[in-house]
Amino acid sequence: MSSQVPSQEDPAIVLGSDPPPHTPAIVLGIETSCDETAAAVVSGPSDVLSSVISSQVDLHARYGGVVPEIASRAHVELLTPVVAQAVIEAGLSDHEVEAVAATAGPGLIGSLLVGVSAAKSLALVWDVPFVAVNHLEAHLYSSFLEEPDLELPVVVLLVSGGHTLLVLMEAFGRYRLIGQTLDDAAGEAFDKVARFMDLGYPGGPVIDRLAMDGNPEAVAFPRPMYDDGYDFSFSGLKTAVVNHVRNNPDLDVADISASFQEAVVDVLVHKARKAAEEYGARGLCLAGGVAANSSLRERLLDACVAAGISGFLPSRSMCTDNAAMVAAAGWQRLQLDGPSPLDTGADPNLALPFILSGEPAA
Ligand code: KG4
Ligand code: ZN
Repeated sequence: MSSQVPSQEDPAIVLGSDPPPHTPAIVLGIETSCDETAAAVVSGPSDVLSSVISSQVDLHARYGGVVPEIASRAHVELLTPVVAQAVIEAGLSDHEVEAVAATAGPGLIGSLLVGVSAAKSLALVWDVPFVAVNHLEAHLYSSFLEEPDLELPVVVLLVSGGHTLLVLMEAFGRYRLIGQTLDDAAGEAFDKVARFMDLGYPGGPVIDRLAMDGNPEAVAFPRPMYDDGYDFSFSGLKTAVVNHVRNNPDLDVADISASFQEAVVDVLVHKARKAAEEYGARGLCLAGGVAANSSLRERLLDACVAAGISGFLPSRSMCTDNAAMVAAAGWQRLQLDGPSPLDTGADPNLALPFILSGEPAA
């Protein structure tokens, strides 16, 4: 008996292939997992027709981090106009949207509920399928939206404010978790170090900017777990920076920024390159907000050249939270699993789906 839905072990769907005729092609994606209210329309696996992002960063900046209650209220206010703009910019009318995908987790529960409830309502009103999307899986698709011909398998270094993961993407819907942070995420370390130095929120872009005028060798901060497998740990590094600044209050903030950034980037690039080589990846991709970091981008590309593999860095707007990646992941999920039941809830701790264990097939 044949099935049109490929099994996890034998996924027949590859990016770039045309969707089967019975499956929806035009997907509205909705992203509200943290502090970006975003909606996008994507046709097929990678044709972005519109992508609208309304950032709440100014609302949270004065608190030094995202305030969950403020975030969910802002999503309620912003989502309807953001969705309307995405549909209009795509040049479509409502009845041309063929499926609605929304991030169902991980993320802030109140924020997730706004997007999931809105997506289900729209799916019901328009009589189209609803698809629940994992936010981490969505990040994995960001490179493919800009480079649809990337060859698998690829290693994705997903570095954001909430996550630091090394994932081997063997096929669409088939992922192997290579490593992850044991404590703070890379972006969280940037944010906490910046907060300690009174540099504002979010800290990553400020440290990135300051580091350009600093000496990365000014302070030899630790490179945690550098040669210790594929997991990461940034909490000790953050503490080392805080202690160093306390003991040396007159040090140049640009030098501290450059030295801290250099330590983070050294570890990320070293492990990502090693993983790509050991797992036989054809390429190495960056994803997540920290992927906007200029030093990380430059050093990762250098490492790819040295390793003889292709490197792909999505544009900065595709690295940070957006809904085009949600729509793209939703399209893939529709091919693999079909629509999600309308009683699917939001899950703040949702894990990356279809993680395989053990060594990859030779
Ligand atoms: O993916 P993202 O937009 O949101 C989630 O956390 O899901 O990532 C935000 C994180 C923040 O921690 C921010 O400080 C960091 O990405 N970030 C950067 C840079 N731009 C944003 N970190 C280092 N360098 C940057 N240029
Ligand atoms: Zn994210």
